[in-house]
Amino acid sequence: MLEHMTPTPRPGAVEEPASDLRAAQDEARSRWDGIYRQGRETRLHPTLARFFALAPVGRALEIACGTGTNALFLARQGFTVDAFDISEVAVRKAQQQARQQGLPVRCFVGDAAAFPFPPETYDLIVNFYFLERRAFPGIARALKPGGVLIFETFNWRHLKVRPATRPEHLLQSWELPRAFPQLLPLYYREHENRTTFIARKPGARYGRYLCLPPHLLLGAGLPPAAGRCRQPA
Ligand SMILES: C[S@@+](CC[C@H](N)C(=O)[O-])C[C@H]1O[C@@H](n2cnc3c(N)ncnc32)[C@H](O)[C@@H]1O
Repeated sequence: MLEHMTPTPRPGAVEEPASDLRAAQDEARSRWDGIYRQGRETRLHPTLARFFALAPVGRALEIACGTGTNALFLARQGFTVDAFDISEVAVRKAQQQARQQGLPVRCFVGDAAAFPFPPETYDLIVNFYFLERRAFPGIARALKPGGVLIFETFNWRHLKVRPATRPEHLLQSWELPRAFPQLLPLYYREHENRTTFIARKPGARYGRYLCLPPHLLLGAGLPPAAGRCRQPA
């Protein structure tokens, strides 16, 4: 039996007419269910394999997990993982693999725009090739102090590769560091049409070092002057 998330109202969330949200959810769900029925499998992202060890081992959340390859990878590294996706077809595959491999991965069917992000719960949150800006406040809230966010998806340069992509599904230059001012950037790269952002929630002590909020680290990892990068308005 698959778990379906029950969305709860989030403090500060922008109220959206329920019928619009439902229509968007239905459209995304049926489109992605169709794609996964055709056999699409989520691949392991090299960025995750390279950087997951920045996070303290503990609880992890994967947003838009697809068939769960990255969630399963994290579970094999010792994390207890929650993972969700809007596609029931994909989540079923993820759950089946987790069960077969005896890995601690809890899979949910749900919409990132309505996910009830629990406060200060996760040591690691990962988001690959999916963009739901309404989830940003929840992501920041759900990280534990010292927890790490690994976010990678396409940016506006992707329009050159796939001109039919909806621009609202693409990141602007330096959008993520600006969207998460409460996090300390650890790594930022715009490589061609992909952006990788890795950041830590301040407030925890690491060995001899105290992880400070970004505004106390003058100049470290801050965006360059606006206007250096050309992007659509
Ligand atoms: C390009 S795939 C990326 C899948 C996986 N994260 C990866 O990197 O391979 C986008 C994923 O987002 C999921 N998705 C689309 N809309 C969603 C939503 N509103 N909430 C949660 N997941 C959604 C799709 O079902 C699909 O699995």
